Amino acid sequence: WFSACLSQRSPLPPRRRAPRRLRRRTARSASAAARRATPCTCTPTPASPPSASPARLPKAELVRLSQTLSLVPRLHWLLVEDAEGPTPLVSGLLAASGLLFAHLVVLTPKAQRLREGEPGWVHPRGVEQWNKALDWLRGRGGAVGGEKDPPPPGAQGVVYFADDDNTYSRELLEEMRWTRGVSVWPVGLVGGLRFQGPQVQDGRVVGFHTAWEPNRPFPVDMAGFAVALPLLLAKPNAQFDSTAPWGHLESSLLSHLVDPKDLEPRTANCTWVLVWHTRTEKPKMKQEGQCSSRGRGGGHFCHQIRG
Ligand SMILES: *[C@@H]1O[C@H](CO)[C@@H](O)[C@H](O)[C@H]1NC(C)=O
Repeated sequence: WFSACLSQRSPLPPRRRAPRRLRRRTARSASAAARRATPCTCTPTPASPPSASPARLPKAELVRLSQTLSLVPRLHWLLVEDAEGPTPLVSGLLAASGLLFAHLVVLTPKAQRLREGEPGWVHPRGVEQWNKALDWLRGRGGAVGGEKDPPPPGAQGVVYFADDDNTYSRELLEEMRWTRGVSVWPVGLVGGLRFQGPQVQDGRVVGFHTAWEPNRPFPVDMAGFAVALPLLLAKPNAQFDSTAPWGHLESSLLSHLVDPKDLEPRTANCTWVLVWHTRTEKPKMKQEGQCSSRGRGGGHFCHQIRG
């Protein structure tokens, strides 16, 4: 039944109508938030950076994400650190965030780690960490900080897999509260397109707008779906497969959980983009050596900078 759209032409309807509809929904959703599912957002951190560096990119990413998440009532953040043990950087950031959180830790095995200069597609990022979050939700495996216990049986939650470098609208996290099984929506600036996402007809997903491997079982991006917690708990073996070919990681989880025809379109029948793949440029710090070794540019102050 799948039809995938390969055209670059936007199937989005004119913009003016969708946001108004969505705004109404979101206003309703905020007032209904107390009755609807609690979003649990799982985020893997990249492998620990050299601790000597004062201006750390992972910290900047996590500050940005945590401040978006703190706009959403009753959200739980499962932050899974790629490390042997909890680092003060992440523990401190979580404690200061004011969010409900669970701090989990799992080190990516060496064989699955990207080596310097290796392209990202060689190993999908964050697989071990996302599976660790699933384990915790299912009562297997402890947290090292924050909430120690997983949600109680029967909890109405919805689980979203959020990378730290995307840009998320708070409305998206409200939208996903309605998830009964697996809900989907478009993702902006991804796969060489302005957006990719589900094609919806009469309120049902009938195909996908994607330029790349449209015949994947679920040609959706990690940022483009959320799963109801009761469904995840009902399928205890559903997890991400670290050996899945590039682009099939999402399918490796979703094929345990849902038939593609039962995907639930959100964000006004998938007409509105509320999440974007905004990659952060790798910072260049080639002047650092000069600053600290010769005291140029106020080098002695460098030692006093926190962050
Ligand atoms: C989605 O489409 C269905 C069927 O056309 C329609 O009944 C429904 O109101 C639409 N939902 C939104 C939020 O626009």
